[in-house]
Amino acid sequence: MHMTAQDSRGSRASTIFIVDDDSGTQQLLADTLSYKGYATRCLSSGRLALTAAAEDPPDLILLDVMMPDMDGFEVCRLLKMDQATRFIPVVMVTSFNEKAMRLKGIAAGADDFISKPIDATEILLRTRNLLLVKQYNDFLKEHAGILEQQVRLRTEELEKVIAELRTTHQQLVQQEKMATIGQLTAGIAHEINNPIGFIASNVTSLGKYCERFLTFIKAQQTTLAACLPDPDQAERLQAMGNQLKLERIIDDVPNIIRETMEGVDRLKSIVMDLKCFSRVNDAEQSIADINQCLESTLNIAGNELKYKTIVKREYGELPPFSCHPQQLNQVFMNLLVNAAHAIDTKGEITVRSWSSNGWIHVSISDTGCGISEQHLSRIFEPFFTTKEPGRGTGLGLSISNEIVRNHGGRIEVESLVGQGSTFTVSIPMKSQGHG
Ligand SMILES: Nc1ncnc2c1ncn2[C@@H]1O[C@H](COP(=O)(O)OP(=O)(O)OP(=O)(O)O)[C@@H](O)[C@H]1O
Ligand SMILES: [Mg+2]
Repeated sequence: MHMTAQDSRGSRASTIFIVDDDSGTQQLLADTLSYKGYATRCLSSGRLALTAAAEDPPDLILLDVMMPDMDGFEVCRLLKMDQATRFIPVVMVTSFNEKAMRLKGIAAGADDFISKPIDATEILLRTRNLLLVKQYNDFLKEHAGILEQQVRLRTEELEKVIAELRTTHQQLVQQEKMATIGQLTAGIAHEINNPIGFIASNVTSLGKYCERFLTFIKAQQTTLAACLPDPDQAERLQAMGNQLKLERIIDDVPNIIRETMEGVDRLKSIVMDLKCFSRVNDAEQSIADINQCLESTLNIAGNELKYKTIVKREYGELPPFSCHPQQLNQVFMNLLVNAAHAIDTKGEITVRSWSSNGWIHVSISDTGCGISEQHLSRIFEPFFTTKEPGRGTGLGLSISNEIVRNHGGRIEVESLVGQGSTFTVSIPMKSQGHG
């Protein structure tokens, strides 16, 4: 590196502080250095030098040892302790050419010494060498900083890539899981559907047959009672009937048939859910008004909602768009029923719709129980439910999620335990993958 009085960027002359209480020495040093093109600044005390160095650090300091308020050793020590000034080379100017003094200077952190009376060649030589070292130092520091910055950026990029890979991996696992479950459920639904069909029709027939039997038995009893010659026989028959608890059985048969039919109906709806879950692509695609869909779903869900909730509607203007309305209705129905279930005795459900930047959004908020952190990550899993058997199969949200994903959209949840939840469905108007 070629040394001039310019600094490493060549844009300004190197600045040198001359710290000395003697104006004669100041002048002599300033003249010698200015002549070679260095910018000098004379300071007559240690304190002034410390303040000036902190404000605008020079490239080199020539520091007198013997000064009245604070000696050169102390000034040097303070300069070397401060992070902002510790890299400025300090040359101690001393009239004592003693070893002890120099050792004290070295202990205070001095970088070099020159002796009084001042020799111009010596001072220029030492100045040049120390400035050169400082330039190297500055260069290294600057580049170490740039390197550190680059390493940090690369590390951040790598961390991002790793996080993306992890997410993609999880999504793949999830998709694989959904596909397997889809196939399984389609198979199970198909297998269960046939027996449910004949159970339903047989139970219905049984019900009708029982009714006829009962009518006939009652008629028989009346006729028998009227025409049996021996009253004992009639009593014996009566006693036998009592023993067999015939009356209770006769009363109970319609209940048993009704309950069995309810069970069959529940089975049917579970199978429908399962079918829907595994074949969400089947339904027709058409142009729909989502606000109308919401309204009709709210009507159907009325029973579930009307006793304990006040439903607020905040519909925005939505352009009609092409989708599978029956499927989206099913999504809204699931979300509404979940919201109603989350409300214990009295609460509010707010249904909002709006569009922005080519997307349609529908949010369903409730003031219900909320979802704990630990459950939040699992609610979209098929068969995950916190409801008692018979009240929930745990398929609602996973079906809904699948439907919305097939529309190219997503469902997001925000929830606070004890305060409520908001499920937001977002679908792009130019959705792909569901045609
Ligand atoms: N609005 C909500 N507030 C509180 N918890 C909710 C809400 N929506 C869903 N959950 C939680 O997520 C679980 C899964 O919901 P999902 O709709 O998939 O199944 P489910 O309602 O339990 O049964 P299904 O909908 O099949 O009848 C619920 O059991 C409940 O714990
Ligand atoms: Mg549900």
